[in-house]
Amino acid sequence: MRLPAIVINFKAYAQGMGRKAIRIALAAEEVAQETGVEIIVVPNAVDLVKVKEAVGVPVFAQHVDAVHPGAHTGSILPEMLKEWGIDGTLINHSEHQVTLPELEYTIARSQELGLDVIACATDERIADAIADLRPTAVAVEPPELIGGNVSVSTARPEVIERAVALVQACSSVPVLVGAGVKTAEDVRKAIELGASGVLVASGVVKAKDPKKAIEELAKGIP
Ligand code: G3P
Repeated sequence: MRLPAIVINFKAYAQGMGRKAIRIALAAEEVAQETGVEIIVVPNAVDLVKVKEAVGVPVFAQHVDAVHPGAHTGSILPEMLKEWGIDGTLINHSEHQVTLPELEYTIARSQELGLDVIACATDERIADAIADLRPTAVAVEPPELIGGNVSVSTARPEVIERAVALVQACSSVPVLVGAGVKTAEDVRKAIELGASGVLVASGVVKAKDPKKAIEELAKGIP
C-alpha cells in the first residue's frame, strides 16, 4: 500500500454490500484515478472477490482468522485472500478483536504471503504494543467516536499525536487514524498531527453520494 492512504471499511452496512459494494468501490477507483490519492476498499468477506474483480484499487479484507488451512468451518484464512489476489487485511478492529497470539500469527502469516496488514488499536498504548509485531501499519480508533459525527482529529487530537510519538519512537510503522472522519479538514488535521492516512466507514458507506464523500476526503490529502 502507498501512503498516505484513505481506507474505506464497508463493515456490514446494508449500503455497502453486494452490488452496492461494487458501486462504492468503483467510485473509490474513479477518485483515486482523478486525484492520485491511494484509496483502499475493505468490503465484507462475501463481496471481496467480486469487488477485487471489478476495480483496480487495493482491496483488503476486514478480518482474517488465526488458523492453518484445514478443518475450520467458517474461517477466513490469509491463504484464501492470497488465492484470489486480495491485497491485504485489517485485523483486530474494535468490532472484531482478537487475542495477542492471534494477532501475532495473522500478521506474520499474512506478511509471509505478501499481504499488507493494518492492525487496529483502540488507544495509543495498544497501538504501540501492536507496532512491535511490525504490521504494515497500525490504525488507532477511539471506539466511542466510531460511527459518530465528531472526528478523532477534532475530539481527540492528542490521541493521534501520542500514538505517532509512541509508535515511531521505536519503529517506523506508519500510524493511521479513524473514527468519525468525514471531511477534508478531518483528514488534513490527522495528517498534520503525523498520521499517514485515515480509516473511514459511515462517512462514505452511508453517504447519499459516496463518490462526493470520497472526493471530499481526498481533498485533505496533501
Ligand atoms: O474502520 C473504520 C471505522 O471504524 C470508522 O468508522 O463510521 O467512524 O468512519 P466511522
